[in-house]
Amino acid sequence: MLTWTSDFETGIEAIDADHLRLIGGLNELEGALADGQGSARISGVLQFLEIYAAEHFAREEQCMNRFRCPAAAANKKAHEQFVAKFSAAKSRIANSPGSCAYVAAQTHRELCDWVVTHILRVDLSLRGCTGQPKPSSA
Ligand SMILES: [Fe+2]
Repeated sequence: MLTWTSDFETGIEAIDADHLRLIGGLNELEGALADGQGSARISGVLQFLEIYAAEHFAREEQCMNRFRCPAAAANKKAHEQFVAKFSAAKSRIANSPGSCAYVAAQTHRELCDWVVTHILRVDLSLRGCTGQPKPSSA
């Protein structure tokens, strides 16, 4: 299980709430796998993660642009890599119906590693940006 700590805080409430919800979704997936729940439940959690991640990425990219965060371009690129990774994982799961739980468990580990590393290495760049003046067009 991933545990939220203040180490993950960007200082922007909406972004931190998103990250908390994403971590919650990953923990839900872990719980569904541990309980031996069926592929419908696992697919449902994966679908939530995909949709919520897309919404969050858009919100976070907009936020980084608004604060002129120097990590904005790297963040957008990393998000694109996540989307590609997720899409590949979905295909692997769809192509291996007999081992859905195994592939989902593998996917869960990959996504957890990605999310933690990404928040710590990229998203925390927001911490130093919020004091900068906002452009009027944002
Ligand atoms: Fe990000």
